[in-house]
Amino acid sequence: MKAQLENIYSLATEDIAKAASISDLDEIRAKYLSRKGEFNEIKKNLKNLSDEDKRIIGSLANEITKKLETSIQTKHDEFYKKELNQKLEKERIDVSLPGKFTPKGRIHPLTSTTNEIVSILQSLGFSVVESKDSPEVETEYFNFDMLNIPKDHPARDVQDTFFTSLASNVVLRSQTSGAQIHVMENQKPPIRVISPGRVYRNENINARKNNFFHQIEGLYVDKNITFGDLKGVLNEFIRIYFGSSRPTRFRSSFFPFTEPSAEVDVQCIMCGGKGCKTCSGTGWLEVLGAGMVDPNVLRGVGIDPEVYSGFAFGMGVERLAMLKYAIDDIRLFFNDDVRFLKQF
Ligand code: PHE
Repeated sequence: MKAQLENIYSLATEDIAKAASISDLDEIRAKYLSRKGEFNEIKKNLKNLSDEDKRIIGSLANEITKKLETSIQTKHDEFYKKELNQKLEKERIDVSLPGKFTPKGRIHPLTSTTNEIVSILQSLGFSVVESKDSPEVETEYFNFDMLNIPKDHPARDVQDTFFTSLASNVVLRSQTSGAQIHVMENQKPPIRVISPGRVYRNENINARKNNFFHQIEGLYVDKNITFGDLKGVLNEFIRIYFGSSRPTRFRSSFFPFTEPSAEVDVQCIMCGGKGCKTCSGTGWLEVLGAGMVDPNVLRGVGIDPEVYSGFAFGMGVERLAMLKYAIDDIRLFFNDDVRFLKQF
């Protein structure tokens, strides 16, 4: 039995010497040292020996297993170190290499223009209405009826307004002015609000017109509000937005929901007022519509026009951005062309 043990020991030692990897060592360990391994087979026969032999052979077997375990472990540690070093070498990072380029996103010019306009108006005391008071899918009641727009007004025509299949009176809003009605139905004066958002019109698309665009509505209702207040606020807004050197003018105009009404022009930024293609030779460009809130509109929402008065205005965001940055085609805002967008 002693010879048998020594024979297995030398075979195992040879195997260990030949082992080339951690998994080879695992196999060797299983073959010799596991519960079903060769040594255990021999140990099973110990019970047939005399007490004396049992002690001698038993301790020899223990000694040999310990030796084998130690040499397997030593070799295992060597392999482990080597494999780790190889792995570290392979995965080494050269910190001096240039990094991967990640293109940076940026704010869309319409968003930044809206933000700028909103913050100017906020500095003049206006606050932004809640989105529930400014829905894009609107009823004719808010988009037209309550704004004093008669049933036969041409703006109601399907040529101008997108109707929906939801119900005959549900439209995509053609202006943000409906927000005025929402606010005045929910709130008592003093009211000083603005409402930015998207509007839709059934236009033939060209360089000047898109079938959706963005407006910012303003409404100020309180006691003793006059046309002078309207002029003061809008002149101040334009002075801040375009710079004080840009002349403005107020032109009398008509909107069903304001009386009197005005349109505000700024001197053409393309030609400086001399007259060019952009301003159709007039030297002026219209930037917003405004007026004193019509008494009919106030009465409709239960505000007494004998006690309160107010003014409203609406401006086109695309138009204001085009004028400031000399953009000559509204479609550029919506084409997602990075060559355009990355200029802002
Ligand atoms: N809603 C008008 C338009 O879309 C603009 C406007 C708003 C005019 C408020 C007067 C008062 O043209």
